[in-house]
Amino acid sequence: MGLSLARLALWLLLLGSVVRADRVNKSSSGGMFWSTAKEEGDLLRKAEAEDSTTVANGNDDFDGGFSSLDGMLQWAIGHSDPEKLKETAQDVQRLTPNELKNRQREIKDLMEKLKMPSDAQLMQIAIDDLNNASLSVEDRHRALQELLILVEPIDNANDLNKLGGLAVIIQELNNPDPEVRRSSAWILGKASQNNPVVQKQVLELGALTKLMKMVKSNSVEEAVKALYAVSTLVRNNLAGQELFYAESGDLMLQDILSNSSIDIRLQRKAVFLVGDLVEFQLETTSKAELPIFSNRFFLKSVVDLAASTDLDLQEKALTAIKNLLQLGTTEALVFKDFCGLDEVLERMRQQLQNLMVEEYQSDYAMDVESLRREVELIFHRKLGRVMRIPT
Ligand SMILES: *[C@@H]1O[C@H](CO)[C@@H](O)[C@H](O)[C@H]1NC(C)=O
Ligand SMILES: *[C@@H]1O[C@H](CO)[C@@H](O)[C@H](O)[C@H]1NC(C)=O
Ligand SMILES: *[C@@H]1O[C@H](CO)[C@@H](O)[C@H](O)[C@H]1NC(C)=O
Repeated sequence: MGLSLARLALWLLLLGSVVRADRVNKSSSGGMFWSTAKEEGDLLRKAEAEDSTTVANGNDDFDGGFSSLDGMLQWAIGHSDPEKLKETAQDVQRLTPNELKNRQREIKDLMEKLKMPSDAQLMQIAIDDLNNASLSVEDRHRALQELLILVEPIDNANDLNKLGGLAVIIQELNNPDPEVRRSSAWILGKASQNNPVVQKQVLELGALTKLMKMVKSNSVEEAVKALYAVSTLVRNNLAGQELFYAESGDLMLQDILSNSSIDIRLQRKAVFLVGDLVEFQLETTSKAELPIFSNRFFLKSVVDLAASTDLDLQEKALTAIKNLLQLGTTEALVFKDFCGLDEVLERMRQQLQNLMVEEYQSDYAMDVESLRREVELIFHRKLGRVMRIPT
C-alpha cells in the first residue's frame, strides 16, 4: 500500500500544480470539483463540465478520508520527493488538455481502487513510523509534520490517544534531536488547545513536567513551543494548574518576565499565560490565590513589560495587569509606588498617540489605547478605595 499511496500523492501533486486545491467548490450535485486558478485549469474545468467527471466528484467515500482536499494535498506534499515533484510539475505544464483529462481519469480510477485512507489511518501510519527505532531522523521529522497537520481537527486530536499517538509523541520529547523535540511539543500543544479531553490525557501521561523543563532549553525554538504546549495544557484546567504551581511554574514565569535577555516571543507567551492564569483565579473565586501574584517583584516585571516598545507585548502585559489589579490580594499602592504604573501608563499613552497617526498600525494602536484606558480606570478605582480607608 505504501508504494501506491506514494504514487497517488505524486499524481495529486501533479494536478495540484495546475489546479488549485485551495479553491475547492461544492458543485450543485453536492460533490466537489476543483476550482481552477490558471488557464490550463480552465481548460480542465471545461473538460470536466462535458462529462461531469471530476477528481473527487462521484466518489461518495471521499469524505471518509481527508477532511479537505487541501489536507490531502498537504499530506501528499509530505510524501513526495521534492526534486521529482519539481520535474513532474514542469512536465505537467506541457500536457495538452486531453492528456490532462486522461491523467485526471487515471487518478480517479486509482482513488477508487485504493479508497482514500482516513485521517485515522494516516495518523496510524505516522505513529507506526515514530515507533520504528530504525527510522531516519528525516523520516521522523516528516511523520511529525504530518501529525501536526492531522491533529488540527478536534476529532482527530481526540483519536490520537486511542491510536497510541500521545504516548509516542511524549516519548519523542526526549529525542536527542532538538527539531524532533520541538515538533513533538508543538503537536501536544495543538492537540490540547481548547480540548479538555486531550488536556486530561496528556496530563495523565505526565508530559507537563517534561514540557516545563523544555521551556528552559537553550534552543529558543524549542523553548517557545514547549511554553506554548504548557499554556494550552493548563488553560482553564484546574488539575493542570495545580500541577503547574506544584512544579514552580509561577517562578518559571517570573524568571522569563524579569530577564531582559530572554527572547521576546517567550516573554509574550509568558505574560499572556499570566493573564490567563489570573483570569482563571478571578473566575473560580473559591480557589485560594497564589502568593506570587501579589509579590511586588513579580508585579513589577509585568508592569515593566508593559513599558516595552513591542505593541504585542504591551497589549498582553496590559491584559495581565488588568486581571492582576482585580485580584483581592494585590495592593494598589504597590502598583503605584513600587511598580510605577502611573508613569508607565502615561508614557504608553503618549507613545500610542504617536502610533495612531501612523496609518499602518493606527487601528491596532487604538485597540491597545482603549485597553490602556480601561487599565487606568481599574487602577484608579482600586487606588481610590485605598485612599478612602479612614485611618
Ligand atoms: C462555486 O460554485 C458556484 C455555483 O456552483 C459559483 O457561483 C461560484 O462562483 C463558485 N466559486 C468559485 C470560487 O469557483
Ligand atoms: C523501520 O524503518 C526502517 C528504515 O526506514 C525500514 O527499513 C523498516 O522496514 C521499518 N520497519 C518497520 C517495521 O516498518
Ligand atoms: C537570562 O536569560 C539568559 C538567556 O536565556 C540566560 O543566559 C541568563 O542566565 C538569564 N539570567 C538570569 C539571571 O536568569
